[in-house]
Amino acid sequence: ANPVGLAAGFDKDAEVTNAMAGQGFGFVEVGSVTPRPQPGNPRPRLFRLPADGAVINRLGFNSAGHRQALKNLAKAGPRKAPLGINLGKNRDSVGEEVTLDFVDGVRAFQGVADYLVLNVSSPNTPGLRALQEREPLRELLLAVQGVLEKASSRPALLLKVAPDLTGKDKEDIAAVAMENGIDGLIISNTTIARPEVLKSPHREETGGLSGRPLFESSTRMLEDFYRLTEGGLPLIGVGGISSGAEAYVKIRTGASLVQLYTAMIYYGPGIAAKINRDLSALLQRDGFANVADAVGADVR
Ligand code: FNR
Repeated sequence: ANPVGLAAGFDKDAEVTNAMAGQGFGFVEVGSVTPRPQPGNPRPRLFRLPADGAVINRLGFNSAGHRQALKNLAKAGPRKAPLGINLGKNRDSVGEEVTLDFVDGVRAFQGVADYLVLNVSSPNTPGLRALQEREPLRELLLAVQGVLEKASSRPALLLKVAPDLTGKDKEDIAAVAMENGIDGLIISNTTIARPEVLKSPHREETGGLSGRPLFESSTRMLEDFYRLTEGGLPLIGVGGISSGAEAYVKIRTGASLVQLYTAMIYYGPGIAAKINRDLSALLQRDGFANVADAVGADVR
């Protein structure tokens, strides 16, 4: 119904998918979900930086596990909005087990998800982000596509990337994604960078930074990937969106859809409906008939 989605991390265990659609989100991403239940990192692990409109988290994939998330989805009944399932790995999975964690996720959720996300970009699970490197990424995608080819349903397959990538990383990811049938990229996860502008006392906490200070860098990444994929791959723009104007910038920079989480922490879930109203007015002001016509308008 609309291009403003709920980013992963809020509804980790698929407890409120329809409720969030009811609040005005056009699609809802559950997770990250890990195969087996795990508690995540010890508390405190989530910090508000109110003066910066930001949050630092090091939750470390607290998850009730695949089975519980599936139960919750079954209990929720018919879906009110498209559903994404964001897949993670268990903390203690190593070597070959890492690929199997994602393969298990694809098997478990292919029948219920509209899209699946391979989350290879959380900063809070040791080793996870190394899966963004060319060869490990290629191997992961080959394994996952092998399962999807034989699956009963064929949800879209997306990859969620970190904002802390080098130029070479980005080129590799774009090439490997296109060569291996990835349907879209989510740009981006939280950052391990700590911009100079941060004022809040919690700015030195370990973890991933999200919210306003992430907007510029994640939007530049979006632009880079839009150029690298020559507009041929749907991109979901996420990072620091709190207004219709910011959603509009992401779309004009190449995003076909947007997501948010941190702004909802500060402004409440009604923010999705407000962003949609303001975005609609901006599209109309500039003579765009729909969102699709504005995608990449500033980059083309
Ligand atoms: C997240 N995010 C996240 N992403 C993901 O792929 N899997 C996850 O489990 C989580 N968990 C999570 C928890 C918390 C508390 C936050 C704030 C964020 C990242 C999130 O989906 C998004 O990519 C970033 O937060 C950037 O968007 P915002 O928050 O700036 O709109």
